[in-house]
Amino acid sequence: MPVFEVKTSHCSYPNAIERGVSGRVRDYLPQRHGKIFVLTTDDVWRLHGEVIQNQFQPGDFEVLRFEGGENNKRMASLERLAEEMSEKGADRTSVVVGFGGGIVTDMGGFLAAIFMRGLPVLQIPTTLLAQVDAATGGKTGVNLRSGKNLIGSFHQPLAVLIDPDLLSTLPEREYRAGLFEILKCGIIRDPDVFWEFSRRKDDILAKKPELVDTLVAAAVRVKVDVVSADEKEGDLRRILNYGHTIGHAIEAETEYTRLLHGEAIAWGMMAATELSFLTGLLGEEDRNEIERTIRSYGPIPSIADLTPESLIGRLAKDKKTLGGKVHFVLATGIGAVRIVSGVDTSQVKQAILNTLR
Ligand SMILES: NC(=O)c1ccc[n+]([C@@H]2O[C@H](COP(=O)([O-])OP(=O)(O)OC[C@H]3O[C@@H](n4cnc5c(N)ncnc54)[C@H](O)[C@@H]3O)[C@@H](O)[C@H]2O)c1
Ligand SMILES: [Zn+2]
Repeated sequence: MPVFEVKTSHCSYPNAIERGVSGRVRDYLPQRHGKIFVLTTDDVWRLHGEVIQNQFQPGDFEVLRFEGGENNKRMASLERLAEEMSEKGADRTSVVVGFGGGIVTDMGGFLAAIFMRGLPVLQIPTTLLAQVDAATGGKTGVNLRSGKNLIGSFHQPLAVLIDPDLLSTLPEREYRAGLFEILKCGIIRDPDVFWEFSRRKDDILAKKPELVDTLVAAAVRVKVDVVSADEKEGDLRRILNYGHTIGHAIEAETEYTRLLHGEAIAWGMMAATELSFLTGLLGEEDRNEIERTIRSYGPIPSIADLTPESLIGRLAKDKKTLGGKVHFVLATGIGAVRIVSGVDTSQVKQAILNTLR
């Protein structure tokens, strides 16, 4: 099985990708540990809880159920969960396990980061998006009313157990949305991944196991490499934000309800690709191939009602804006990107217009 080691300045941990690895939690726990607190949602627990339950004696673990959803990824839920942990006997030896989609791994990571000033967390992501993105890298947090992920901390996990078998129950739309993050890895760094997407759409959508495993592993490898080289969002880590500058603006303008994150990123990547072409960084043939490939993994819900002006207005508010300047990750070819600041607003507007119409 592929195991990619994340190496940061103060720790290192494995990302293990293997069908069935979620059944071997014990191998990844510290030798001495207290109670296990599994944070999960009802749906995931109903579908896959047995895998976890079978590995522990009843008194050795507790299940913390959480409603899920962006609206509940909030401090209020975190406080309630921390109280519940405390009532169920959590102490400094306890371990949190995040067993769910990115909302659960973000919340579980943050809960672990702040409970008694820090418990270890083991991540077992169950959506494609969480497997290739959210669960790796140590970013944890919750939303504020004024914006997504505005409260949080870096808290690296003990390990990330990536079990593609868990994806069998994932709704088709969630699966497609996760695919866009893998495609992103192809565009920014791994041309082989891009060309698999370009040529093997039917196999990818049919979830052909060996292909899914290869693509998940390739995307995890990109994230692990980038995070290991740059834990806290310097220039290198920013390349993971391809399509996210405009994508985040789209999510905010549609109030986080109409599009899944990956779908907003699909639109954002098309706009970023168009902008790369308009600024002269990307050739026309590559632009066409990238746009065609992204669109072929739709349907992506329409955003034809949004205006470039409203999206550009949002860009300035993005928390990744530095000193008032919007930084764009732009493609220079298939598998290569560059960070560019000070892009002309008229070009950004044109790129959005060309993408929306
Ligand atoms: N920390 C990071 O670096 C990072 C990176 C990317 C995204 N995120 C965060 O991730 C979140 C989105 O994550 P998501 O897309 O996984 O959404 P999600 O966590 O809401 O999961 C999507 C839905 O799928 C259900 N589900 C999960 N696993 C399932 C399975 N195996 N079978 C059937 N249903 C299943 C969930 O209960 C939920 O209803 C956002 O809050 C985002 O901010 C964090
Ligand atoms: Zn993303």
